[in-house]
Amino acid sequence: MNYIFLGMPGSGKGTQVELLVKKLNIPMISTGNLFRKNIKNETKLGLKVKDILEKGDLVPDKVTFEMMSAEIKNMDISQGLILDGYPRSLRQAELLKDILNIDIILNIELSEDQVLLRIGGRRTCKCGETYHLKFNPPQKEGVCDKCGQELYIRDDAQEETIKNRIKVYKEQTEPLIKYYGDKVINIDGNPSIPEVTEEIFRKLGISD
Ligand code: AP5
Ligand code: MG
Ligand code: ZN
Repeated sequence: MNYIFLGMPGSGKGTQVELLVKKLNIPMISTGNLFRKNIKNETKLGLKVKDILEKGDLVPDKVTFEMMSAEIKNMDISQGLILDGYPRSLRQAELLKDILNIDIILNIELSEDQVLLRIGGRRTCKCGETYHLKFNPPQKEGVCDKCGQELYIRDDAQEETIKNRIKVYKEQTEPLIKYYGDKVINIDGNPSIPEVTEEIFRKLGISD
């Protein structure tokens, strides 16, 4: 089975994807994480997309699709794949259709007020783990539980940028919910992290 996660910035996609990956033992691709890795390593792609991410705009569809499809080619996806942050536009969904069949779309629903709270307190690790100062703090302040590296605040966490990311989401990504129709499973993103996970597992028919 191949899965897509949709939802506003900060709705909890990355957090839940990590937990589903552990449960199903299948690989995942996060286009946001891939872009941030390229920016950190100052690759050609990284230099090209740095300003776009800082503003909270979308990287052009073709550039994103090429990065994502190159990643898929190097993976064993015979047992399935989870996509976090792709597709984000109708054009990206059309490009994806030619290389991968999507079975289920998990759409995490959360209000804008909550989004601001969530992103405001987020701390991120280069390894991909995500924490929250209040809702999911690391055992030791400022340090990743999983790998011991120092946690950081993402460059796109400024209020202006968050507002733009929400606007971009509504204009370009939200139409995908209609596009995927019956394949969409809505998830209430408001409860605690384990409660949201439980709802996802229950709706997917996976036992704890
Ligand atoms: P991306 O990295 O995908 O960012 P995003 O979609 O804006 O979403 P976030 O990662 O901010 O939030 P999330 O939903 O993963 O929430 P999280 O689990 O972290 O993309 C970044 C940028 O890259 C884009 O703006 C764009 O420029 C570019 N890009 C990426 N993909 C692209 C594409 N396909 N096309 C073009 N451009 C693309 O949770 C947030 C916080 O809340 C955390 O602190 C977490 O601990 C906490 N939390 C999570 N769940 C709960 C809960 N239930 N209760 C309490 N706290 C919670
Ligand atoms: Mg994320
Ligand atoms: Zn880490």
